[in-house]
Amino acid sequence: MKRHRYAAVGTGGRIPMFIDPISDTYRHCSELVGLCDSSETRRRWHQQRLCSAYNTAPVADYGVEDFDRMLQETKPDTVIVCVPDHLHHEFIVRSLDFGADVICEKPLTTDADKFAEIDQAVRRTGRSVRTTFNYRWAPGASQVRQLIADGAIGTVKHVDFDYMLNTSHGADYFRRWHSYKALSGGLFVHKCTHHFDLINWWIDSIPETVFAMGALAFYGRDNAIARGQEALTRYARYTGIPESEGDPFRMNLEGDPTLKGLYRDAEDDSGYIRDENVFRSGIDIEDSLSATIRYRSGVIASYSLNAYCPAEGFRVSISGDAGRIEYFERHAAHIITGDKDIKFEPTASRGATLSLQRLFEDAQDVPVHMPEGGHGGADPLIQEQMFSDQPPAENLGRNAGHEQGAASLLVGAAGNRSIATGQPIHITDLYPLSPKSKHLSELI
Ligand SMILES: NC(=O)c1ccc[n+]([C@@H]2O[C@H](COP(=O)([O-])OP(=O)(O)OC[C@H]3O[C@@H](n4cnc5c(N)ncnc54)[C@H](O)[C@@H]3O)[C@@H](O)[C@H]2O)c1
Repeated sequence: MKRHRYAAVGTGGRIPMFIDPISDTYRHCSELVGLCDSSETRRRWHQQRLCSAYNTAPVADYGVEDFDRMLQETKPDTVIVCVPDHLHHEFIVRSLDFGADVICEKPLTTDADKFAEIDQAVRRTGRSVRTTFNYRWAPGASQVRQLIADGAIGTVKHVDFDYMLNTSHGADYFRRWHSYKALSGGLFVHKCTHHFDLINWWIDSIPETVFAMGALAFYGRDNAIARGQEALTRYARYTGIPESEGDPFRMNLEGDPTLKGLYRDAEDDSGYIRDENVFRSGIDIEDSLSATIRYRSGVIASYSLNAYCPAEGFRVSISGDAGRIEYFERHAAHIITGDKDIKFEPTASRGATLSLQRLFEDAQDVPVHMPEGGHGGADPLIQEQMFSDQPPAENLGRNAGHEQGAASLLVGAAGNRSIATGQPIHITDLYPLSPKSKHLSELI
């Protein structure tokens, strides 16, 4: 049997989510044929890791200047794009024009102009782009989708979504490229794309209008000084700086073999400093965000994100004309990105609770079973869809193409525009995403 050929660009913290199952569980039907990254140290680190973990032969690896040569020489059927967010569109378009399909990490891209380039390339080539919205595959999120699809609360009218990032995971977005809007789109795009996608998919509707406010209220030099914590601002980074010992935001790249191999040892060839001070000047993304969103179906959603909470998780309430669902997840603290970047609190009762209350009835607790695996068991399920030669039938509409990717990133892009202008933003003014459609499931 001919195995499906995959090449990957961007071999940082997240790439094991893709290249490991290809090299292990799905090796009978999948084959990794090329790795590309601007850092030789990082791509070789993964290369050696794969060889020793799965006893595979070394894979051809390429610098970023040789991406097109990689396509020509390795002839992938699908390219996996896992570079920083503002670069996704470049590699997507070049891969589609070569004749390959694409699997792209979220967010699909960072703004409407870049999405236009992707959309045109899909139309020009007839190839496909998958957006990897792994949160859809988490058991609790899937149960919420199923309850709504079954009509448990009637027709949805309102959503209230409150996301908490803690001072460990939340702080991590302020240490490196994510902390610059031009590179990540800010948390409204980089992080909230997951949450906007969950709302879009749960209620099966396309967002129409966004009014948002945001602020950098905790991280950054000025906020630390205003709180009387000037001492935390005195060093540019943490690793190797004795003065930073005892700083609760300290990250030590030499204290963890993955962080050392991937980032500390690659500083000379990439200039990428993974542990910059979260209280430095120049950070231009928000850590406190609120948005009101109206959907084409008439649903109104209220959303907030806070990146400096003592605990991490989210709370969502969805009200319909026949009842209400309340869902809560509490996540454990962690730092390292990659395929396990959300861990749930170990006890089921603290990890996730789901409650269904129909109008004029008592609330019922619905048990949520959290299996093993990255993102509460979501990652193995989406990996099976991506890489298996016989993926199980999918009846919840959890696979997302480039248009569904856009439906969520455009909420964040509209939120950014709303913060900048102080005005509500009509998403179709940013990009006319299938203007006659109402349901998310009508989009690819
Ligand atoms: N779905 C999820 O839960 C999840 C979790 C983490 C990250 N992600 C996404 O995965 C992607 C990668 O994130 P990460 O955490 O691995 O980041 P990272 O910074 O660890 O890795 C990015 C890699 O891209 C490389 N790179 C930078 N510029 C490049 C260029 N021009 N050409 C080629 N390579 C280049 C860097 O050298 C680095 O190896 C991002 O889009 C992020 O949003 C998704």
